[in-house]
Amino acid sequence: MTSLPSRFQLGPLTISPPLLLAPMAGLTHTALRTLLMELGGVGLLATEMLSARTLPQENAELSPFLKRGEVERPLSYQLLVGDVDEVAPAVAVLERLGAEVVDLNLGCPAPNVRRRGGGSRLSEQPDLVRRVVAAARRAATVPLTAKIRLGETLDAGRLRDFCQMLADEGVEMLSVHARLRGEPFGRKPRWDWVGRVKEWVSVPVVANGGIFTVADARRCLAESGADGLMIGRAAPTTPWLFAEIAREVYGVELPVPQVNRPAVYRRFVALLEERLAPERRLGRLKEFTHYYAKNYAFGHHLAAAVQSSGDFSEAVARAAAFFAEHDPEPAACG
Ligand SMILES: Cc1cc2nc3c(=O)[nH]c(=O)nc-3n(C[C@H](O)[C@H](O)[C@H](O)COP(=O)(O)O)c2cc1C
Repeated sequence: MTSLPSRFQLGPLTISPPLLLAPMAGLTHTALRTLLMELGGVGLLATEMLSARTLPQENAELSPFLKRGEVERPLSYQLLVGDVDEVAPAVAVLERLGAEVVDLNLGCPAPNVRRRGGGSRLSEQPDLVRRVVAAARRAATVPLTAKIRLGETLDAGRLRDFCQMLADEGVEMLSVHARLRGEPFGRKPRWDWVGRVKEWVSVPVVANGGIFTVADARRCLAESGADGLMIGRAAPTTPWLFAEIAREVYGVELPVPQVNRPAVYRRFVALLEERLAPERRLGRLKEFTHYYAKNYAFGHHLAAAVQSSGDFSEAVARAAAFFAEHDPEPAACG
């Protein structure tokens, strides 16, 4: 049973189901994105934030940030912009790489990002943001989107003006992380504020923050009336969640996933090996395991074992030992 629209339009793209991967540094690379596509239910993938300033110098063949496989589409590339003159060259690179969507990071509160003038620091200067968006709009032929937080303080007038300015300048979708800049991830997200944003603009509005279960997805949609959901930390924790929400909330016909947690982990390991240079694998396995370990009551043992590994094969062997003890698979027969 579903009465919710199971898609929305973003320029020429149909986002179906309306479930989006949130950009996450160190996590949303080619291996995780491929795993998510294999498990199903994702309507739009994302890169992690890419520095607009350094992007033109990156070697797309070698860069772990730009590596992309065939199944990873549609893919939104997120730009972290510090100044207007960085925008056009960076967008040109993304278009050459075949970006289906260009996203602007206007919300990131991380101190190192703010120091470089990006993320939430940029959004404190609406006039600069206007010029950045206008430059991106001129440069991009693909849909342009922006990801924001709710601001510094709860200020409906300011947030409304900001969102309307973004839409007026040509942003075609807003994803709203429903927290203020200084609010920690532990705080309950303010999904009702996403609903306010939705009333102010006519472009699709996607709700982000704190969606870990099908029940969260239902609650968030009920409170926000959002056109779609963007999922971050749950992606490396329960990569099959997109498929579950697609089926149970949006009525998409997908087979009920038979989740085999050790097998999903092994597939992620195989994708890291297949896609990334050896020196790029261990750090990303550690990042992923930090989240994946939350599936187990004794997951902190898994996380610590991988975290303290000196090399990739040691980490993989330690994870295998953990699964053998805590999640043994039935012996194959016949
Ligand atoms: C490790 C990590 C890295 C992140 N990196 C980015 C990023 O590169 N760009 C961005 O806009 N947000 C970034 N975020 C924020 C997420 O996109 C998302 O807004 C946030 O995690 C809330 O969603 P969730 O509760 O579903 O995780 C990051 C979050 C985490 C946990």
